[in-house]
Amino acid sequence: MGAHELHDTAQAIVADHKGILAADESTGTIKKRFDSIGVESTEESRRFYRQLLFTTPGMEDSIGGVILYDETLRQSAGDGTPFAEVLASKGVIPGIKVDTGAHDQAGFPGEKITEGLDGLRARLEEYRGLGARFAKWRAVIAIGDGIPSVACTRANAHALARYAALCQEAGIVPIVEPEVLMDADNTIERCYDVTSRTLKWTFHELIVQGVDLRGTLLKPNMVISGKGCATQASAEQVAELTIQCFMTHVPAAVPGIVFLSGGQSEVEATENLNAINHIGGPWPLSFSYGRALQASALHVWAGDAGNADAAQAAFAQRARMNALAAAGEWSAGMEQPVPA
Ligand code: 13P
Repeated sequence: MGAHELHDTAQAIVADHKGILAADESTGTIKKRFDSIGVESTEESRRFYRQLLFTTPGMEDSIGGVILYDETLRQSAGDGTPFAEVLASKGVIPGIKVDTGAHDQAGFPGEKITEGLDGLRARLEEYRGLGARFAKWRAVIAIGDGIPSVACTRANAHALARYAALCQEAGIVPIVEPEVLMDADNTIERCYDVTSRTLKWTFHELIVQGVDLRGTLLKPNMVISGKGCATQASAEQVAELTIQCFMTHVPAAVPGIVFLSGGQSEVEATENLNAINHIGGPWPLSFSYGRALQASALHVWAGDAGNADAAQAAFAQRARMNALAAAGEWSAGMEQPVPA
């Protein structure tokens, strides 16, 4: 597999201000989402909901890639077409979550290390055969009293780089996701410091392990106030500190930065991305949102097939708003009320 294919795939995902739909919720996580709307999580209800998203008319104008979960990559639309083909036929690149989750790190209470390296080479080969052209691995960095430790930050950076190298060997673009959580009560300045250190170690390991940065995408948190912080930074402050942090730590060779939403509301995630693009940097700055692309669609659907069209309209609207934000061309007046 040539390096050029990796570069081309990475660039294609974020071309024309497009972003990524993260639809790779594990079986446990999607159950929580379905619980919130009173829908039972079964293989068929999960398949139906993902089909609804992937067949949304016009989504390909705003979405360049979709991250799938193992089960979803093996599922098909009602007419028997595998989801990977449904997406590829619209010019949307299929991806796959390959980590096996964040687990307690031995010796470091309150901290997590992401697992999934054992057997990854063989899984990547199978996933490529099933149509995946990019992958995702999420490291989780918590902020708290005395954490993150250097041990947690470095161990996760090391695992991210080993994953990324294996992906590139298999001809798959790795999305490198070191997520600093935003659910504590820390200030935005503390988020800046922790994100800086996390990015520093992540790129150190990627470079030491020979990962081709031009064939990767970075999926980071924004530099943002913790949810419980009494003083919440404005979108302009988020943008200023996010760009300052990334200009310091992310090489220009990286072909795209696709932010996670991390618990921001739908409109907040769009507004912050738009403000970030008002400043800009040497990379496309786009989105790889899960909750911030799906929250309205999920609630409008509510498990009733009769609501599918309205749910698709809600998803299409969020996708469009975020593609506009990735161009720095969004404004609050463009938002439309979501159908009840
Ligand atoms: P959120 O945008 O809901 O944070 O999810 C993105 C994601 O894929 C986290 O790994």
